[in-house]
Amino acid sequence: MARRILDPVLAGRVMSADDAAALIGHGDSLGISGFTGAGYPKAVPAALARRAEAAHAAGEEFRVQLWSGASTAPEVDGLLAGAHALSKRLPYNSDPTLRGEINSGEVEYVDAHLSHSAQHMWFGFYGSLDVAVVEVTAILPNGLLVPSSSVGNNKTWLDQASKVILEVNSWQPREFEGFHDVYYGTTLPPHRVPLQLTTSMQRIGEPYLRVDPAKVVAVVETDAPDRNSPLKPLDDDSRAMADLLVDFLRHEVAHGRVPAELLPLQSGVGNVANAVMAGLLDAEFERMTAYTEVIQDGLLDLLDAGKLTGVSATSFGLSLEGARRFMENIDSYKGRILLRSEEISNHPEIVRRLGVIAINGMIEADIYGNVNSTHVMGSAIMNGIGGSGDFARNAFLNFFVSPSTAKGGAISSIVPFASHVDHTEHDVQVLVTEQGLADLRGLSPRARATRIIESCAHPDYREQLRDYVARAEAARPTARHTPHLLTEALGWHQRFLDTGHM
Ligand code: COA
Repeated sequence: MARRILDPVLAGRVMSADDAAALIGHGDSLGISGFTGAGYPKAVPAALARRAEAAHAAGEEFRVQLWSGASTAPEVDGLLAGAHALSKRLPYNSDPTLRGEINSGEVEYVDAHLSHSAQHMWFGFYGSLDVAVVEVTAILPNGLLVPSSSVGNNKTWLDQASKVILEVNSWQPREFEGFHDVYYGTTLPPHRVPLQLTTSMQRIGEPYLRVDPAKVVAVVETDAPDRNSPLKPLDDDSRAMADLLVDFLRHEVAHGRVPAELLPLQSGVGNVANAVMAGLLDAEFERMTAYTEVIQDGLLDLLDAGKLTGVSATSFGLSLEGARRFMENIDSYKGRILLRSEEISNHPEIVRRLGVIAINGMIEADIYGNVNSTHVMGSAIMNGIGGSGDFARNAFLNFFVSPSTAKGGAISSIVPFASHVDHTEHDVQVLVTEQGLADLRGLSPRARATRIIESCAHPDYREQLRDYVARAEAARPTARHTPHLLTEALGWHQRFLDTGHM
């Protein structure tokens, strides 16, 4: 491990995770590294959870605010939620234990666009940051930090925190040096300048994170893997959605709207996104690029097959097998993978300039094209908006994908009125379910309703949806632009109200 901490001053601050956690106080705000299960601190959060449990056992209060890049892992969100150690969480969570505490009202949750989270901090919306806990791969002799498997909001947390705890993880490959591009030029309005990034793989920053050594109060050594969850095997629905989407891309190329090598791809995480990447592996497109958030196995496959020339992202999200493959051939990926801060990987200016093709999951869409990515029945948060708004709103072409039903067919994903709206009808272009694809571009609301019902809704729900539109049109002849029966629309789509689901 000694060769990972080469700065003599910071080498003198090595201590145990428990000693480092003792430097964090009740009520502190904590800015941690981590994005989609990659690059999160492996030891200090567990030590903090132990500390909170001990404090609670002694009848003392102990809760902190937790800010991150995006989701982390059960060893962070799960443990801290289980220890009732969190008061507030932002900007994203996908951990089920913490989700339960958010939905029960125990933990406050600020669900923010990921491209906004750093600047909201700079603007002071979240208050001041007490402690940054950031995993790095190595500390160089000059004090520069070699980032780990995600960059997320690390630059902002290191810059803004009063105290810094570094975790140096020797599980992360030392060869990571050179894989990162950390932009240090961002300034606040009115001094902000254009970002000179005109192709996905262009560098505009530095390979290292900077930290003021005077703020570093602890350095903790770890040797622990990222979450690296296995991906579910591709199911028939995911394959069907992927085939529809790839065919549609063919259609766009044939109409001259998209070049033969496509435009830079962004895909959300999960089964369908991975299935689309698998579909692209077998398709005719060559020399593709990706400007996205997370590198899942499917993108690695495309790189390995030579179909993709490069991927810009902010984090890895590989399976164990994917991580092994990456590490075994790490040198071959250098120059073809770049990890950036999330305010750059998700930057609206760049997404719009590059003309990204964005593919994201959804909970439900309504018949007029409003999309709900975050809430079940309007109230219970699932995960959060993540980067879906950053990409979809600014993409050249966007897709929202979901099976047409949830919970074994008991719930329709196509509804008369979305119970919560993350992406409005003005931003949503193409909906895809296993039933079919609805291209909404250029359509009026009523035309969209017909297209969505007939192409995307499950046949079991189509008649009810048609009936809803017909009755809404009949009920209000002078309000037929977007026909609605609001008293019926909300809460319509649950066929069996006694299913016990949220
Ligand atoms: N009503 C109730 N529950 C629903 C539902 C609906 N209409 N649609 C989906 N769900 C539930 C599923 O049943 C499942 O629950 P379970 O884990 O208890 O079985 C869960 O939501 C996930 O759905 P799934 O079909 O497995 O899809 P997914 O893993 O692709 O997730 C989202 C879908 C919307 C939750 C996910 O894409 C997300 O969080 N999106 C927002 C953030 C985002 O887009 N990030 C990417 C930007 S880069």
